[in-house]
Amino acid sequence: MTEFIHRFEPATSAGSPPLLLLHGTGGDENDLLGLGKMISPGSALLSPRGRVLEHGMPRFFRRLAEGVFDEDDVRRRALELGDFVAEARKRYGIAAPVAVGFSNGANIAAALLLLRPDMLAGAVLLRAMVPLSDPPKAELGGKPVLLLSGQSDPIVPAGDSARLAGLLSEAGARVDHKVLPAGHQLSQADVTLARNWIGNASAKAA
Ligand code: MLT
Repeated sequence: MTEFIHRFEPATSAGSPPLLLLHGTGGDENDLLGLGKMISPGSALLSPRGRVLEHGMPRFFRRLAEGVFDEDDVRRRALELGDFVAEARKRYGIAAPVAVGFSNGANIAAALLLLRPDMLAGAVLLRAMVPLSDPPKAELGGKPVLLLSGQSDPIVPAGDSARLAGLLSEAGARVDHKVLPAGHQLSQADVTLARNWIGNASAKAA
């Protein structure tokens, strides 16, 4: 198995879903632990560090330029991450996690949903883009996805996030897409919406 440097924090409350935390470019396994605790207190947290380095900055897959992805690498790395999640589930005894990804982490989470849908219970995608121009026909069977985009995001064009919402809906996900008065960075509204959404999604699953 491909090992990822990662942090794992066990659950402190039985009713909260495990979270797979996926950082943005230049982040690491520590970045989103605070966010995870804020949006789902008590959840087990599994937080890997991306294995690709771009000028020393960790990422989850290679890109050719900003917003232009090496799609062979996206596929390979998403499958690698899927294997890591499967192995970590056994090692730590956790259920399929809800991915919470920001920027590059949201893009690999979207790729994982399309390529290995069985690995995730759902996803919170913060500032995500379409990760693959020709994705496989995925069967998402009603998995819940929250997609939060920024109205003035200089990295993710509005049409791109709308296309991702459409793609995931067509694959059968229950997509809730909101466009916030924000840029690429996260705002307090992201935290509040994500917390409410996870709370509702886990109440429905219980
Ligand atoms: C990406 O490369 O995944 C996106 O451009 C977002 C980013 O990491 O800047």
